[in-house]
Amino acid sequence: MHRHENTFLTLEELGAHYAPYAPNYDIRWNYATLHHWRLGRSVAKNSGLIELKRGDRSVIDGWLRKDDALKLYEMAYYAPGDILELGSYHGLSTTILAKANRAAGNQRRIVSVDLTPDAVEITRDTLRSQGLDQNVSNIQDDAVHAVQSFVDAGRTFGFVFVDHSHAYTPVYEVCRRLGPIVVPDGFCLFHDFNDPRNRDEQDESYGVYQAVVAGMDPAQFEFWGTYGCTALYRRIK
Ligand SMILES: C[S@@+](CC[C@H](N)C(=O)[O-])C[C@H]1O[C@@H](n2cnc3c(N)ncnc32)[C@H](O)[C@@H]1O
Repeated sequence: MHRHENTFLTLEELGAHYAPYAPNYDIRWNYATLHHWRLGRSVAKNSGLIELKRGDRSVIDGWLRKDDALKLYEMAYYAPGDILELGSYHGLSTTILAKANRAAGNQRRIVSVDLTPDAVEITRDTLRSQGLDQNVSNIQDDAVHAVQSFVDAGRTFGFVFVDHSHAYTPVYEVCRRLGPIVVPDGFCLFHDFNDPRNRDEQDESYGVYQAVVAGMDPAQFEFWGTYGCTALYRRIK
């Protein structure tokens, strides 16, 4: 395994540099599969963001950079347990998780949570149109409420992708509850961690960096790297 702790950013450094994707698992040639490699080439020219299409060739809306998407695929492919996604929107990240899981032999259940009923329905359609829906449960719920219910039920995951909010409290409250639901050596990936808007103290809608730094208990999790705008933490045994 490879830990990239030297990619940690101070608050002042957010947005100044986006560390490129680099694998944490020991992967020959850096990519788990040919699909993983191809994902890094699925970048829209105008936006610079990942562009994937549904079965009917319509574009799946979403906001993933190349390096975010490559890390997402790697973490889902090698996940040492089921996969939890908080915030699916139209299913771009869910598509990547489901494709990686399928390539890894569909060994894991993916649980995808979104607060908005429309987002849940569109994510379902997005997956169905690509034949990726079999191993995915789409749940309409608030992220904190969903995570608390997993804690109460003793449900665990090998990988958690957190992308439901940019604001401090909803992300902090999730972070404080992750310990019991992430298996030893499991990973959590936070989107929008490396975003310069987190630096603006006047902007109450942004505080992912501060929420993760304050909310991830160092007795339970260690920082493993930043990739694109994401930050990766690993559950300590
Ligand atoms: C940034 S989008 C997710 C993008 C998606 N992961 C992707 O890569 O395309 C955030 C999503 O989180 C949902 N959301 C917002 N607040 C939430 C909450 N408290 N709990 C669960 N989902 C929430 C929104 O409805 C929205 O669909």
